[in-house]
Amino acid sequence: GKRMTVPGLKGRKQDGKTEQPIVMLTAYTMRTAQLLDPHCDLLLAGDSLGQVIYGLPSTVPVTLEMMCAHGAAVVRGSWHALVAVDMPFGSYEASPELAFASAARVMKETGCAAVKLEGGEAMAPTIRFLVERGIPVIAHVGLTPQAVNALGGYGARGRSEAEAAKILRDAQAVADAGAFAVVLEGVMEDLATQITRKVAIPTIGIGASAECDGQVLVTEDMLGLFERTPRFVKRYDDLATRIGEAVATYAGEVRDRSFPTADQTYRPKS
Ligand code: KIV
Ligand code: NA
Repeated sequence: GKRMTVPGLKGRKQDGKTEQPIVMLTAYTMRTAQLLDPHCDLLLAGDSLGQVIYGLPSTVPVTLEMMCAHGAAVVRGSWHALVAVDMPFGSYEASPELAFASAARVMKETGCAAVKLEGGEAMAPTIRFLVERGIPVIAHVGLTPQAVNALGGYGARGRSEAEAAKILRDAQAVADAGAFAVVLEGVMEDLATQITRKVAIPTIGIGASAECDGQVLVTEDMLGLFERTPRFVKRYDDLATRIGEAVATYAGEVRDRSFPTADQTYRPKS
């Protein structure tokens, strides 16, 4: 089979309507990508890996090296979904030229087809610069975790009229600049619905609205593998409990020497 393409995904939204919502999840490793790929349109090597797999306090310390290493693993573990890689904090904001150099490196080192970056109106010229030079961009507005130090936390955005109007302008600006999709994170449901109706490109919601043109979650969150999950995460499984039980069984069998058995040991051929 062939991989999903940028025009294919952008074209899911026709005349403001999306018949088939876009299914997106995060992946950081080859094996996770393999497991998710058949079910997803988009796989995101997200900078949420900072917290989820490196134990960092936020996404701010995540490096281009980390994103390249994990992005490449996700591309190697997938064949159907389009893979997008997050541009980490500090790798793109200062100028369109810096963004191009960083994004080109990510594409060369990972083989991904698109990058994602946070920001609205302020990043629109950068998005245009990348798109005009062959780098497809997914934008990310609303709650932008790389700006946690400025926002003061991870609370929902767009509660005030002024803030909602600003987020709507951000979404419009990134669409006008040529982003092929926009992630709406942690925004009031009404605002997400309104943005989805107004912008021509697909909106992909996380803590947004069921009316978005697609949805994304952090895979570890929806599987119940990560301890601190926001309100908008639905837990589709409780793998933390299941892993705990499996490991407790293993530990008990090591301690009472009931593992390994004949099935798991090498003996002379008879
Ligand atoms: O880094 C990430 O996982 C993300 C998604 C939550 C959209 O940006
Ligand atoms: Na991210």
